[in-house]
Amino acid sequence: MNLQDFIRSIPDFPKKGIIFKDITTLLKDPEAFNTAADMLYNFAKNLGVQKVAGIESRGFVFGSLLAQRLKAGFVPIRKPKKLPAQVYSASYTLEYGEDTLEMHQDAILKGEKVLLHDDLLATGGTAQAACSLIEKAGGKIVQVSFLIELAFLNGREKLKGYDVVSVMRYE
Ligand code: PRP
Ligand code: MG
Repeated sequence: MNLQDFIRSIPDFPKKGIIFKDITTLLKDPEAFNTAADMLYNFAKNLGVQKVAGIESRGFVFGSLLAQRLKAGFVPIRKPKKLPAQVYSASYTLEYGEDTLEMHQDAILKGEKVLLHDDLLATGGTAQAACSLIEKAGGKIVQVSFLIELAFLNGREKLKGYDVVSVMRYE
């Protein structure tokens, strides 16, 4: 099964010039969905992961699945003002402007082994900000995993030093 066959490319969404990688066409197919989850699980199964952190919103889908399979807890990393208790915040640059991510301060304990998951690695700014939140809490990042990696945007550069893995790579 070639999982890339299940990813739909939408030109000029959400902006002109961007080819959007739509994962909903993979999610709706039970076999493709399960195969992708198996691959993500296999990347991480021997790392002793204690918490899986998933990035809102598309990182929640496989993030929570992975947490269950790894028998780890799940931690949501969210867009600003969504989490009710004390948070750590990290801002990052987008193509135009800035955005912020937040995580509850008590979500991760010092020294815990954390896997960070998101659906897609593009420029890497989102994942880099999420890494800084996990480390602020004292977590040890043992893997950063993605369903899709847009390799031509060099997001890995921002994640140097981490074990970065992806199910599908677009060169
Ligand atoms: C998309 C994608 C990643 C991020 C990658 O999320 O799901 O989280 O962009 O971009 P980067 O590597 O250039 O930082 P988006 O912010 O569109 O939000 P969503 O997941 O809620 O749809
Ligand atoms: Mg996202």
